[in-house]
Amino acid sequence: MFIQTPFATVNDRHELCVDGVSVMDLSNKYGTPLYIMSEGHIRSQFALLKDKFIDRYPNVLPLYASKAFSCLAIYKIAQEYGVGIDCVSAGELSIALKAGMDPTKIYFHGNNKLPSEIEYALSRGVNHFVVDNFYEIKIANEIAERLGTKVYATVRVVPGVKSGGHAYIQTGAKDTKFGFSSHDGTYLKAIEQILKAPGMEFEGIHCHIGSQIFELEAYTTAMTHFVGFAKEIKDTLGVEIKKLNAGGGYGIAYTHEDHPLDFEVITSAIMKTIQEGFAKNNMRMPMVLIEPGRFVVGNAGITLYTVGSYKDIPGVRKYVSVDGGMTDNIRSALYDAKYEAVVANKADLAADTLVTVAGKNCESGDILIKDIMLQDPQPGDLLAMFSTGAYHYTMSSNYNQLPKPAIVFTYQGKDRLVVRRQTFDDLIAYDVEE
Ligand code: LLP
Repeated sequence: MFIQTPFATVNDRHELCVDGVSVMDLSNKYGTPLYIMSEGHIRSQFALLKDKFIDRYPNVLPLYASKAFSCLAIYKIAQEYGVGIDCVSAGELSIALKAGMDPTKIYFHGNNKLPSEIEYALSRGVNHFVVDNFYEIKIANEIAERLGTKVYATVRVVPGVKSGGHAYIQTGAKDTKFGFSSHDGTYLKAIEQILKAPGMEFEGIHCHIGSQIFELEAYTTAMTHFVGFAKEIKDTLGVEIKKLNAGGGYGIAYTHEDHPLDFEVITSAIMKTIQEGFAKNNMRMPMVLIEPGRFVVGNAGITLYTVGSYKDIPGVRKYVSVDGGMTDNIRSALYDAKYEAVVANKADLAADTLVTVAGKNCESGDILIKDIMLQDPQPGDLLAMFSTGAYHYTMSSNYNQLPKPAIVFTYQGKDRLVVRRQTFDDLIAYDVEE
C-alpha cells in the first residue's frame, strides 16, 4: 500500500505508524505540519552503502549528497557507516563539521564557490574540491598557496548525456551551468592548468548526469564516456587519474508509477563498466566515489499535515487545504512532482473521495497533490504525504511568514525531536529594528 515505506504500518485504530510510532501521537506531541523521518529507513539505506559498496569493492567511497537533507543528526548518522559527504556551500560544510565529520571525507562542490567559502573550507582541512570552472582554478590555487595548503582537485566533466527527471534537474547534457565541457576538450585545458598550479594537485574526474534517474543505460553510457576521458587524459597529458566520481541521481519511487533501479544493480553496472574499461586500456583502476542523496533520505520522509478548509466547486473539483504547502514542499509547484498520501487517522479505510490537496500559501500554484483518491478528508483529520525526505526541508522557505516545521526522527518504536519548529520570534530573529 505505501510506496517504498516498509516502516509504515497501520494500528488497530486505523492510524498510520512510522517505525511503530503512531503519527497521531506525534501530532499531539509536536503539532503539524511535521516532517517525520524514519531513522530506521535512513539507517537501512546507509547500511546498503556500507554493505553493498564499501565492503564489496576495494578503494571506494560513497559520499552522501547532503543537499538532499542536511541537519546535525544526519551527518552524525552518516559517520557511523563510514561514508563521506558532498557539500555544496560553506553553510553545509559548517553543519557537517559541527556534527564532527572528518574534513578529509568531505568533498566541496559547486559552480560558484566564493573566495570566502574556499578560504573557509581550506582553513578547516576540507581540501577535496570538485572543481567546476577556470575562475575557481585561479582563486582556489591563489588561496591554497596563501594558506600554505593544497586543493586536491577532481574535475567535473560534462559527458553530454541527457538524463534525469525534470529539465531543472538534468545536468549531463552540453548546455549546463555545471562543469567543463568534453565535446571541445575544455576539460583537458582545465586539467593542464591544475597540473601547473602550485596550490593544486590533480586527482581525477567527476560525473553527475542528473537526478531522479531510472535508466541504467544512462549510467553505463556516462561511465563509458568517462573511461574515454581518462584515456584521453593519459594520452595527451601523460597522467593517470587516481579518482573517478560517478555522481548520484538514483531515482526513488514517489508513486506506484515509479520503478526505481536496485542500488546493487546500479553500482555493479557502474563498477563493471569502469573495471572493464580501465583494464582494456591498461590503466590503473582509480578510487571510485558515488554521491547519492535522494536515495538515502527520500523515502524515509513523511510530511504530516492537519486538514483544514474544504471546498467543493460543483463540476470542477474538491479542494482540501492543509496547514503547510509550498513552504515545506516546493517540489510539487517547481517540478510538477507527484506524490501519494493517506488520511493518517483513517489509513486503512477505503480511499473513496477524489480531492485536490492545496497548501495554505497565497499562490494558486500552491497545490501539493492534484486529483488523488483519499479517505474522505475532513477538517481536523491528519494527512500524511509520502517520500518527502529529500529536497523538502532543505528547500523550504518562510513565504507568507509560515514558520518551518519541526523534524522528528522515529526509530524502533521511539521518536526524538532533531530540529525544533520555528517560532514567530524566529521569523524576526534577523530583523535589526524593534
Ligand atoms: N552530486 C551532485 C554533483 C549533485 O549535483 C547532486 C544533486 C547529487 C550528487 C545528488 O543527487 P541525488 O542522488 O539526490 O539525485 N532539488 C531537486 C534535485 C536537485 C539535485 C541537485 N543535485 C529535486 O527536488 O528533485
